[in-house]
Amino acid sequence: MRLSALNDIVDGGFAEVEATIGDDAESLILFRDGDDVRAWLNVCPHAGRRLDWAPGQFLKSKDGHLVCAAHGASFELVRGDCVAGPCRGDALRAVAVQVRDDGVWLA
Ligand code: FES
Repeated sequence: MRLSALNDIVDGGFAEVEATIGDDAESLILFRDGDDVRAWLNVCPHAGRRLDWAPGQFLKSKDGHLVCAAHGASFELVRGDCVAGPCRGDALRAVAVQVRDDGVWLA
């Protein structure tokens, strides 16, 4: 399943897409890092809220962390580990994606 065009995501930025995983419709966070994209479920491990404050609008700290809009948990963007805030030590759930043909696909 194709999720996005690579160039629809700003380098260093985020996008939100809907995808069916298993039998469930899920909201995903896509993060672009050059020619690479990483993805996680858009579900915060703290209280299960979405991390964006409006659809597709994610906060990034000056340290380069993704910040949950609900209560401010911060996540590093390699593994999705929570490095500060109420769920420190927990992590976002990674979703396997791959970049090919200028698109981002579920792996
Ligand atoms: S739901 Fe994300 S910090 Fe509380």
